[in-house]
Amino acid sequence: MPTSLPTTPPTTDRPRVVVLVSGSGTLLQALLDAAAAPDAPFRVAGVVSDRDGVAALDRARAAGVPTAVVALRDFPDRAGFDAGVTRAVEVFSPDLVVLAGFMKILGTAYLVRFGARTVNTHPALLPAFPGAHGVRDALAHGVKVTGSTVILVDDGVDSGPIVAQRAVDVLDGDDEATLHERIKGVERELLVDVVTRMVTAGWTTQGRHVRLR
Ligand code: GAR
Repeated sequence: MPTSLPTTPPTTDRPRVVVLVSGSGTLLQALLDAAAAPDAPFRVAGVVSDRDGVAALDRARAAGVPTAVVALRDFPDRAGFDAGVTRAVEVFSPDLVVLAGFMKILGTAYLVRFGARTVNTHPALLPAFPGAHGVRDALAHGVKVTGSTVILVDDGVDSGPIVAQRAVDVLDGDDEATLHERIKGVERELLVDVVTRMVTAGWTTQGRHVRLR
C-alpha cells in the first residue's frame, strides 16, 4: 500500500524522528547534527535504547533530546518488551522511526503500530549478510564489495524492502573494525539523506519496491 508523508513541513513543526539505539550511537549523532541545522528538515523527538549506560544516550542528552530505556530483562517475556518499546516510541509521536544500531528484533505489537514508518540501517549489502554480524560475515566470505543498506522493517531479520544502498570496497588487510568504520562513514551520510527525503517528500511502497519521492 502506498505510504507518504506531507511535503514541505513548516519549520516550527518539523517532522518528528524517533531513533532506537543499543550502542555507541554514531549514526544517531549524524541525525542529531543534521537536525541541529537552522533549516533542518526534521527534529529528533526522542531516543529509545534497550541498554542503559550506552554512549548513544549521552549523545541524545547532550543534544537536549529526551530519552527512554526499555530493557528486555525488565519484562517477563518478549511480548512484554515489544509492548514496552511500542509505548516508549508512542510517547514521542513519531512521523518516522529509525533503528540506528538497535540490536533487538521488534515483534508484532510494534510492527502493527509503527512498522509502516520504521527504517533500519544495516552494515552490509542486503540480502547478503543479514543479522548481528554483517561486517564479520562479509569479511569471512571474502567479498570485495560490501556496504550499507537502509530497509523498511518487517517481521524478519533484515529482510524488509530496500529503501537505499551504498557500496564500500573491502581493502586488503581490512579487519572487522577498519571495515565497519569505513561502512559507518557511508551509513551516516546515507541515513541522513534517506531520512530527509522520507520526511520531506515521502515514499511509495509496492511489494518489495520502495521509491523515494
Ligand atoms: C551500524 O553499523 C548499524 O548498521 C549496525 O550497528 C552499527 C551502529 O553503529 N546495525 C546492525 O548491525 C543491525 N543489524 P553506531 O552505534 O555507532 O551508530
